[in-house]
Amino acid sequence: MKRWQDKSWTRSMKIALDFSGMMADAAGPRHGLTMKQINAVADAFKSVHQGLKQQRRAGDLPFYELPYDRQVLKQVLKTAGRIINGCENFVVLGIGGSALGGIALFRSLAHPQHNLLPKNKRKGLPRVFFADNIDPEGFGALLELLDPGKTIFNVISKSGGTAETMSQFLIVRNRLVRKLGRKKHTSHIIATTDPEQGYLRAIAGEEGYETLPIQPGVGGRFSVFSPVGLLPAAVAGIDIAELMAGAQSADKTCRQQNLWKNPAGMNAVLQVLAYTVKNKPISVMIPYSDALRDIADWYRQLWAESLGKRLDVDGRVVNIGPTPVKALGVTDQHSQLQLYIEGPFDKVITFLTVGRYRKNIKIPAGLKHMDGVGYLGGHTLNDLIQAEEQATEFALLQANRVNTAIRLPEINPFTVGQLLFMLEVQTLYAGGLLRINPLDQPGVEAGKQFAYGMMGRKGFEEMAGMMPLRRQGKRPCHIMV
Ligand code: PA5
Repeated sequence: MKRWQDKSWTRSMKIALDFSGMMADAAGPRHGLTMKQINAVADAFKSVHQGLKQQRRAGDLPFYELPYDRQVLKQVLKTAGRIINGCENFVVLGIGGSALGGIALFRSLAHPQHNLLPKNKRKGLPRVFFADNIDPEGFGALLELLDPGKTIFNVISKSGGTAETMSQFLIVRNRLVRKLGRKKHTSHIIATTDPEQGYLRAIAGEEGYETLPIQPGVGGRFSVFSPVGLLPAAVAGIDIAELMAGAQSADKTCRQQNLWKNPAGMNAVLQVLAYTVKNKPISVMIPYSDALRDIADWYRQLWAESLGKRLDVDGRVVNIGPTPVKALGVTDQHSQLQLYIEGPFDKVITFLTVGRYRKNIKIPAGLKHMDGVGYLGGHTLNDLIQAEEQATEFALLQANRVNTAIRLPEINPFTVGQLLFMLEVQTLYAGGLLRINPLDQPGVEAGKQFAYGMMGRKGFEEMAGMMPLRRQGKRPCHIMV
């Protein structure tokens, strides 16, 4: 058995939060934090922690229980089995929280070129696509590529009424019905939605589509461990039981009331202090791994939609929220790093690092007589990416730029499960510390309603009427190029 297939081996792997780069002794007193400053927030953290514990006990935070839902796990595996045997292409139709978790899992845990592999090298698994935008060019090109008879579409919408997803659904349904007939088309659509409410639930009932539930009370951006993320992951051959085990392991650690033993709590405190006390409104996540790139994307939504709020819990206008930015190591060293090192002191950087990459690539010895190139020979790309990551952490500190790192011993379902769950809990803690509700998204809803009005949805006419008045202003503001 290969070592990575040995579950007792992978389950010994714990991710770690390294926040030495946040401290004053490393980043300097002006920008770094002291133990005293962190401990001063310990009581506030304790009370947020207690509050969440009570809400969880009362069943008000059901996302916490997703990694323990064995029934849903079984259901997902069964549906995934049917999909794997029944099609060549699997397409997710969904947006925001209904897509980003699946994308993050697919990118981090499936083969990096899954869709380009020949079928036998994919172990017979379907190709997996995520259509998370309605750009007619992008969506149209994807549909043109796929034979509807060999494709299964997974429509994901918690509310069942999101205009983007439901438009995609209508387009796909029409094509399927035209090609396969009314009756046969039903086996090509699977709906993941609220178990009871919403248009998608009602449509699935009428048409007879197979459905999977998004457990009640679980919001889009906290749904990665529900069928929203699990089904696409399972179809791509990812071990979702191990993913859940990783999340459970993080849950155990992140239940600790002691801030110094709770990585989600500590990282929330550090981020909030950087934002509120050290005046750093921008929070950059930079994974040193292509596989983790879309985890930064998923996290960007989690952080932005959860923490960007107009009102605090007492209804006061606060217009609060750090701005999350995603970057990629090493690529963005050649794009963003100059700004991070020499620009304004307004950022806190979070590195995602990998101890052991799943591949090792040697740089062959050669051109030894050329000093500027020859030294690379004999090393590996692994040495290089790790050296560059460490050098960047150090360079940032030399310039008094605070940074923290979440270190993954390697990338596997167990460690990714830990990472995603920890970041979810961290977001709740940060929301509590900032005294806002991290679980709603009234701003997004407002945008959705203006669009409904423009598209003629009944009940939203007034919203459409408001728009031109506000946008036109008093004089034209257009310049032709
Ligand atoms: O996180 C969220 O709540 C949002 O990003 C939603 O997931 C997104 O707007 C899509 O909503 P729905 O799943 O209802 O189609």
